[in-house]
Order: sequence, then C-alpha cells, then structure tokens
Amino acid sequence: MTSSTILLTGGTGFIGSHTAVVSQQAGYDVVIVDNLCNSKKSVLDNITRITNTAPKFYEMDICDTDKLRTVFEQNTIEAVIHFASLKAVGESFEKPELYYENNIGGAESLLSVMEEFNVKKLVFSSSACVYGVPEYCPIDEAHDLSATNPYGETKIAIEEILRSQYAHDSAWEIALLRYFNPIGAHSSGLIGEDPNGIPNNLAPYVCKVITGELKTVSVLGSDYDTPDGTGVRDYIHVMDLANGHLQALKKLPEFECRAVNLGTGTGYSVLDVLKAFSKADGKDVPYKIAPRRDGDVGQCYAKVDLAKDFMNFETKYDLEQMACDHLNWV
Ligand code: NAD
Ligand code: WQD
Repeated sequence: MTSSTILLTGGTGFIGSHTAVVSQQAGYDVVIVDNLCNSKKSVLDNITRITNTAPKFYEMDICDTDKLRTVFEQNTIEAVIHFASLKAVGESFEKPELYYENNIGGAESLLSVMEEFNVKKLVFSSSACVYGVPEYCPIDEAHDLSATNPYGETKIAIEEILRSQYAHDSAWEIALLRYFNPIGAHSSGLIGEDPNGIPNNLAPYVCKVITGELKTVSVLGSDYDTPDGTGVRDYIHVMDLANGHLQALKKLPEFECRAVNLGTGTGYSVLDVLKAFSKADGKDVPYKIAPRRDGDVGQCYAKVDLAKDFMNFETKYDLEQMACDHLNWV
C-alpha cells in the first residue's frame, strides 16, 4: 500500500517537528517547508535520528508562491498541516504589518497553490488567543472571538478566510485546531522548544533559570482572581498536541471547517508550574513576585468535550511529565 504524503509548513518548528515525528511513525511520508526564521535546519537531523526517516525538506518562505508551487509539482501532496506563522504576541505589537503579511499572506499563498493542485485537505494551527479576554472558563468553541493583539488578529482572519473557502467549495476538508499552551518535548530529548533570545513564555524561561542561563523567574502577577493569585493556563504536552493532529487528519472528511480546542481541560497556575519543574529538577526554582504583564489575563483554560466526543482525542500527559520532558530537552 503506498503511503500518503503530507506537507507540514513550519515543520522544523516546535510543534511541527513533533508532529513530523508522530506522522512518520504513523506511516505518512512527510514533506517540510520552512524558511528557518524561527527554527534550525539541525532539527531535521534529530527528526531523522528519532524515526530513521529523513523528511523531505524545502527551505523557503511560503509567501513565495512560485517557489511553493514547485513543492506541489515535485510531490503528490495528500494533505497539508499549516504551522508556518510568526507567533510572538509582543513582537506582533511592534511589527503588526510583518505579522499580517507573513501570517495572512502566507496562508493565502498556500491556499492558492493548494487550489491550483486540487489539494483540499487542510489542518490549520489556530490558537486560544482567538478567544481574547475569556468571558468564562473553561472556554468552549462557541466562545466569542476577539483579538487583544495583532498576532491574534491574524489567527481570527485566517480562520475567517478558511470558513469562507469552505462555504464556497465544500469539497475542502478543513480542521481549525485551537491550541492552548503547549510545553514539554519528545522523550528522546532530541527535539523541543528552541526560542531565539530571552523567552517570553513561562516554560522555556523556567528552563533557562534551571540551567543557570537566567537568574530567577519573575512571577508576573500574584493578585489575579485565581486559587493562588497567579495566572492560570491550560498547559498541554507537545506530544499530546502532535498526536491530536493525527486524530484530526483521520477525522478530516467530517470536520466541515469546525474549530476544536486542544488542551487538557485543566488550568494550572504559575506556582503549579514552578512546583512541577522544581520536582523534575530536584531543587526549588528561584522566583520573585513581579507586576502583571500588560495584556495578560488571569485564567484561560479549555473545555475539551468536543475534542473527545468528535475527535476521540484525550491528553495522556500531566504537568509533571511536561516539566520532566521539557527539562530533559534543554
Ligand atoms: P515555531 O516558531 O516553533 O514554528 C513555526 C515555524 O514556522 C518556524 O520553524 C518558522 O521558521 C516557520 N515559519 C514562520 N513563517 C514562515 C514562512 N513565512 N514561511 C516558511 N516558514 C515559516 O512555533 P510553534 O510553537 O511550533 O507554533 C506552530 C503553530 O502553532 C503556529 O502557527 C503558532 O501560531 C501556533 N500556536 C502556537 C502556540 C504555542 O504556544 N507555541 C500556541 C497556539 C498556537
Ligand atoms: C503563561 C503564564 C504569564 C512568563 C502565549 C501567547 C499565546 C500562545 C501561547 C501562540 C501567564 C506567566 C510568563 C514569565 C510568568 N502562543 N508568566 N513569568 O501568555 O498564556 O500565551 O503563549 O499562540 O498566544 O499569548 O503563555 O507562557 O507567556 O505565560 O509568570 O516569565 O505564565 O503571566 O500567566 P501565555 P506564557
């Protein structure tokens, strides 16, 4: 039986690389397109070390439609998982035009080539940030959409474009996956989150404090309306998230451009995260209480009934495992 070929845009990134591993292990041939603006080519070697199969790789910007066309000319692409995006909320405030051009322009370039080659199966990396400031938690998929930053605006805009695409041509099979807070790493320690510079996100920052590259963790706010006053988020193991994409691919013909939350359904506070990493490391992570970060919300965690009932998706790993695996990677 010939295996199906899937294209992962942004596939050398944090979530894409883990999805490449589980996809190859599930029998898919994987093609990756990435311009390496936020990842390294060495990720390919580590994917290969894990699976003994080298993904086919094209270094290119998906906004370059002519170049992207060659990927579809040279490969019989069955489906696309679209990870390629800029994703730093803070940076999106500084460079909104770059985010609109890269994220929305990139998606439009991809869609035009897919249409040209009659490839109409697409899984899109959306984000819980489309929910803006949560009106309630746990957040279900019917929650109003609103953006509190240009990055979130791009995710809402692309979801809209995809809904319109589907409304005009129901031959398209589209899944909108709204990820919450992915952390952790593959158990081999060979791939993981590898942010450039000083991390904005909590887990990679904690790891740099544990390895001694940074001094102490600033707990950004301790006066939120949460059990211990610190911010509560829905952390999901990146391997759970990667496997969720396999479930979505299987279910794609029935998705009908539906949005599905991918989270654990459990909210963990910043202090919970510090405790989990302290346990994983065997000693307390140094931290200090600091003022809230602009734009942060007190709590944001998912209602995950739809993922379970529709996609038969359930997470397997808890926060302690996420911390262990994240630390094993750095
Ligand atoms: P990442 O930065 O590690 O991976 C994104 C990859 O896309 C990088 O390798 C980057 O080089 C590539 N890329 C960006 N723009 C490109 C372009 N124009 N052409 C080709 N390649 C391009 O990020 P990630 O954490 O793996 O996120 C993957 C997807 O999931 C993104 O769409 C992101 O918005 C979304 N998401 C991430 C999180 C999170 O917390 N990590 C949460 C929700 C949603
Ligand atoms: C988690 C918690 C902080 C850093 C972001 C994006 C979101 C998505 C996921 C792409 C919060 C606290 C953080 C620190 C801290 N990305 N914190 N000290 O902000 O929930 O979500 O990443 O789609 O769009 O907004 O993740 O890891 O930055 O913060 O106390 O040094 O940790 O206040 O409560 P966030 P985060």
